Amino acid sequence: MTDIGGARGRFLTLEGGEGVGKSTQARALAAALRARGIKVVETREPGGSPGAEAIRELLLHAPADAWGREAEALLFAAARADHVARVIAPALARGDWVVCDRFVDSTRAYQGGGSGMDDADIMTLHAIGSHGLLPDRSLLLTIDAEQAAARRQARGSAGDDRIEGRVSAFHEAVNRGFAAIAAAEPVRFRVIDAAGAAEDVTARLIAAIDDLLP
Ligand code: TMP
Repeated sequence: MTDIGGARGRFLTLEGGEGVGKSTQARALAAALRARGIKVVETREPGGSPGAEAIRELLLHAPADAWGREAEALLFAAARADHVARVIAPALARGDWVVCDRFVDSTRAYQGGGSGMDDADIMTLHAIGSHGLLPDRSLLLTIDAEQAAARRQARGSAGDDRIEGRVSAFHEAVNRGFAAIAAAEPVRFRVIDAAGAAEDVTARLIAAIDDLLP
């Protein structure tokens, strides 16, 4: 992990396209870690701090054309900078573990893979905003498009925000972006099959962080 001043806790992120079950799994993973006696901060992006939650509203609950892709990437980076400075870095410095639902790899996949921004530019914004902080492990949840659509319908949120509501070609490009990032960083990333029962998926996540557990 990038040094942010003697951080001691572990930083885990869940990543993936829409409807893969990240939020459910983030809760389950945090609970499993707590059961092992680890102090865990559960958080999410965009959001996770009051300022970042305000930016989340601007990003997700606005007209489709409210932001161009550069402004959008800057807003995600700004939200992340506040979240890292006020929540994530202090937690890691205390020795807590952090389980975060989405992080910079979502910007790389959505604003990069989906919207065509240059990956190096996104990482420059991340270097400026968040000291280039990277997770110790990033868990990429994947399921096929039909199952993802079914899960989104089941939770009643198919297409209900500015980004989720984009056309399927955009989301396919996002998924290709995630796959490429994971393939390029095999030490940090694990690709997790998110199909099947929630408990089985959680067991796969635990297995994928086994080497980090105390
Ligand atoms: P959520 O549905 O997981 O809460 O995420 C909100 C939306 O924001 C989702 O469509 C993914 C998108 N997003 C980006 O486009 N870039 C980012 O950096 C992040 C964190 C989320």
